[in-house]
Amino acid sequence: MQLWGGRFSGKMDPQAWQLNASLSFDHRLARQDVRGSLAWAGALEQAGVLSSDERRQICAGLEAIDAEFANGEFIFVESDEDIHTAVERRLGELIGLLAGKLHTGRSRNDQVATDLRLWLLDHLPILDASLRELQSALIQRAEHDLDVLMPGYTHLQRAQAILLGHWWLSHFWPLQRDRQRLAQALQRAAILPLGSGALAGAPFEVDRLALAGELGFSDAAPNSLDAVSDRDFVAEFLFCAALIGVHLSRLAENVVLFASAEFGYFELSDAYATGSSLMPQKKNPDVFELTRGKAGALLGYLTGLLAVLKGLPSSYDKDLQEDKPPLFAAYDTLMAILPVLAGALQSLTVHADRMRDALDAGLMATDLADYLVDKGLPFRQAHTLVGKLVQLAQSQGKPLNSISLDEIRALADPEINLKIDPSIYSVFDPLQSVSRRCSFGGTAPQAVRSQLERAKQVLGGF
Ligand code: ARG
Repeated sequence: MQLWGGRFSGKMDPQAWQLNASLSFDHRLARQDVRGSLAWAGALEQAGVLSSDERRQICAGLEAIDAEFANGEFIFVESDEDIHTAVERRLGELIGLLAGKLHTGRSRNDQVATDLRLWLLDHLPILDASLRELQSALIQRAEHDLDVLMPGYTHLQRAQAILLGHWWLSHFWPLQRDRQRLAQALQRAAILPLGSGALAGAPFEVDRLALAGELGFSDAAPNSLDAVSDRDFVAEFLFCAALIGVHLSRLAENVVLFASAEFGYFELSDAYATGSSLMPQKKNPDVFELTRGKAGALLGYLTGLLAVLKGLPSSYDKDLQEDKPPLFAAYDTLMAILPVLAGALQSLTVHADRMRDALDAGLMATDLADYLVDKGLPFRQAHTLVGKLVQLAQSQGKPLNSISLDEIRALADPEINLKIDPSIYSVFDPLQSVSRRCSFGGTAPQAVRSQLERAKQVLGGF
């Protein structure tokens, strides 16, 4: 069956038909399509287009179809161009010619936009739950590794000592923002296109607000032309997905580095590592590399859709059929990655000793400058003086904390020299160094503990 054959006398070229068909991917909208049709049948009755008996028969047929989908018993046929055709064809098989009344005043244009929004409303909470699981894994890690000292990096150069708990939590907050963004995207997706017809509206009075409420939307789209062309909600979702990809990729890249022998900070559990077919000694972080790699595709889904949208005249164009593959692919990609990441992070081993060994005295150079500031030297001069000490230590091939008091005094002003004593060496204790960073959001143990409490609160019911 075809929904549009009347004005044609020739048959469609089989390859053109294949190109045109979307069932291979829009079958995923089956349940949403039936739900939209059930609501539309109700609207048709209210508008006096269907008698209540007709509506009842149509709805009984649709319920039977829904059950077939739910049980995996629905049989698609060769001629089902898309999911909307398949459902209407099956309805006809079940209730006869009356099925043909369901599409009154409706177009696949407002239908597909409605189905896709419904699909997002159904699936965003599932994605949100997976993101939340990963956040919860990060919280557990932060709690477990809270006091482990490690080098913090900028430009991938050792910078200052930080706590590993602080580092884990630095990956928690981006995901929190991602979840907020998704929640906002969901609000904008919850606007009903149904009742917009092909482009110009329905030829009878439909209570679109009631229809919106019934289907779980918060409002009805105020312009029928806009309603059938608007795919902002898909683009917004794909942006959210792309940014989640960026966040996950950054985390993954860190883990790949830290699991290398050069760093040796992390070791992956066997459950989340892979081997080499040639080199027996290898233990590879494939799941993190794939996370990083798939983030590339996630960016592509967004730019691909935006490119589809940018050249379109307003209203429905068949190009819009291309909105679904990237939407489903982005969702599937994230749903494949997120649980694996949560498990891999939870089960990895931290080598605190390796992190501690990497805390060379140079990481406390800022603390040395801060000490001199404490003794009255302006920070800029303190910075220069410590820079000279770093240079001196390097030229002698020794760590910064092996510089003698005399060597320091030789470079500092006499006035400051009077105030310098052996207590200066305490600045090289990394625990003291992190403890000094006690501002809100800093890496001091107390600050990280409050941050952890806040993260748990934000997550709710942790
Ligand atoms: N399969 C189509 C899509 O996904 C449904 C809408 C078809 N509308 C049309 N005017 N041919 O966009």
